[in-house]
Amino acid sequence: MINLKTNFMGLELKNPVIAGSSGLTNTIDNIRQLAEHGAGAVVLKSIFEEQIRFETDKLLASENENIVRWKSAFESIVEKRSYDYAEALDYMSNYAREHTLNDYLKFISEAKKSVDIPVIASINCISAYDWSFFARRIQEAGADALELNVYVLPSNPLKDGQENEQIYFDVIREVKKHVSVPVSLKIGYYFSGLSKKVIELSNTGISSLVLFNRPYSPDIDIEKMEISSANILSTPAEYSHTLRWVGILSGRLGCQIAASTGIHDAETAIRNILAGADVVQVASALYRNGFSQIEKIVGGIENWMNTHHYASIDQFRGKMSQKNMENPSVFERVQFMKLYSKIE
Ligand SMILES: Cc1cc2nc3c(=O)[nH]c(=O)nc-3n(C[C@H](O)[C@H](O)[C@H](O)COP(=O)(O)O)c2cc1C
Repeated sequence: MINLKTNFMGLELKNPVIAGSSGLTNTIDNIRQLAEHGAGAVVLKSIFEEQIRFETDKLLASENENIVRWKSAFESIVEKRSYDYAEALDYMSNYAREHTLNDYLKFISEAKKSVDIPVIASINCISAYDWSFFARRIQEAGADALELNVYVLPSNPLKDGQENEQIYFDVIREVKKHVSVPVSLKIGYYFSGLSKKVIELSNTGISSLVLFNRPYSPDIDIEKMEISSANILSTPAEYSHTLRWVGILSGRLGCQIAASTGIHDAETAIRNILAGADVVQVASALYRNGFSQIEKIVGGIENWMNTHHYASIDQFRGKMSQKNMENPSVFERVQFMKLYSKIE
């Protein structure tokens, strides 16, 4: 009897295939469908710090119009408590912020009511902001766990690696102070010393690291002479970068690993679990092939386990990680040699 059950961040998942955060995890209907198609858990679309700031700015930008609209709402307060204009703006700004946050909180509660798989909320943090306060409300809204999506592009020539990387530690410290649900950190790979930093991050009390987020990248439209978006979706060929690092880091971290980027089929999911991933997250594969791709990946893992006589995921997880290899240097090889690449 094959058992795909996986314990991830203290949550019991029926299988290790998670629908990663994307535009597809942004509606209740989609979340229901993802659960029906067999996802082990779902990560909701992130709420973005910039989104909150944007909503706030939008409200303040149409200030005159809003003041008319809002006048009646806070007129009595303004009169009663002699609020001045700046305070009125503060009031509006807080309202906009609350409004955006509340929509997300409602979404979490509804998602939780709609499915019986774990629902992981996601926050995209670009600073420590006051996520600490909001994180607690996410927990109260019913999220089973919280994924912090932090991606610092080291583009500022005045900042060194240490400064860029401190933000990850600051965000975790602040959020962890205020929540008891498991916290996961989703990162990119721009670190001054990737292994060392990831190991340090794994020992901050987080339950899992998502390796790796795939950045939005700019492109240039040479006809329109404007900046466009490059390859929004990953291709199946992109899994190898994640595979290398999952293999190198597995068994060395103080938390679990969710593999992400380029996982489009059962074979790649199995490779990542063999390298040491506890779960895999899929996003682009769902855009490209539809939600039924989850069933195919889960079914493919089950078939492979059957053929290879594995009864549970634990029996083969990490079997091919660097720590368990006779020749661990294969994970670290970066130059082509005929012996390894089989090509001259
Ligand atoms: C259209 C789109 C929207 C995404 N939105 C989010 C998001 O809100 N938060 C997040 O953490 N990741 C987001 N991602 C990143 C995915 O979760 C995932 O990490 C990345 O696409 C690599 O995985 P994949 O190869 O399976 O697509 C998004 C990806 C896509 C394609």
